[in-house]
Amino acid sequence: MVKISPSLLAADFGNLRAAVQDLQAAGADWLHWDVMDGCFVPNLTFGAPLIKKLRPNSTLPFDVHLMIKNPASKLQWFADAGADIITVHAEACDDLPAVLAQIRKLGCKAGVSLKPATPPEILAQAADWVDLVLIMTVEPGFGGQAFMPAPLDKIGVLRRLFSGRKVEFEVDGGINPQTAKQAIASGADVLVAGTAVFQNGAYEANIRALRGEGK
Ligand code: DX5
Ligand code: ZN
Repeated sequence: MVKISPSLLAADFGNLRAAVQDLQAAGADWLHWDVMDGCFVPNLTFGAPLIKKLRPNSTLPFDVHLMIKNPASKLQWFADAGADIITVHAEACDDLPAVLAQIRKLGCKAGVSLKPATPPEILAQAADWVDLVLIMTVEPGFGGQAFMPAPLDKIGVLRRLFSGRKVEFEVDGGINPQTAKQAIASGADVLVAGTAVFQNGAYEANIRALRGEGK
């Protein structure tokens, strides 16, 4: 059964506690936190203090997506804030294996994300340190963008590259009930969705629809 990790970027920032509690009650598997620094991506969202504040309101895994420059210098902040998974962008790391090893040392699962245009082969040298790959199907920076199907092909390439290793594949960007089907068919284990979960506030129905479950 595919896991759903709703992105809080699409939530009402004035009522995040309620959003976190309601999403857990609605059957979300993880909670996806889109951290943006205004440098690696043009948008600026929130940092570790906000995530720390919300941590006591949910027992769900906090799936932290760092769209920031030089993530190695900030990992401790997010581990201390209660992250369960910390995902960095391969494009923002000079020594990716070292950063992933550091995430594991902090007691978190190590994730790496690829922008749509970044080839999957660059992860070959980090294979032993990867717990999760976050496949971007939009350019990182904003919610509500149109789905790009081409990056889904990276999952098959990486499953072969990582053969035998326990790696989860998460797809992020433009996921709705239609595009979710494509992502699942391509081998996704986890789907991130912001707009599609928060639209009309019907969290449970929207989450079930992404899993392909009936109304
Ligand atoms: C984009 C973020 C995504 C985004 C998903 O940079 O990484 O998680 O918030 O939002 P939707 O589901 O609306 O595309
Ligand atoms: Zn994200």
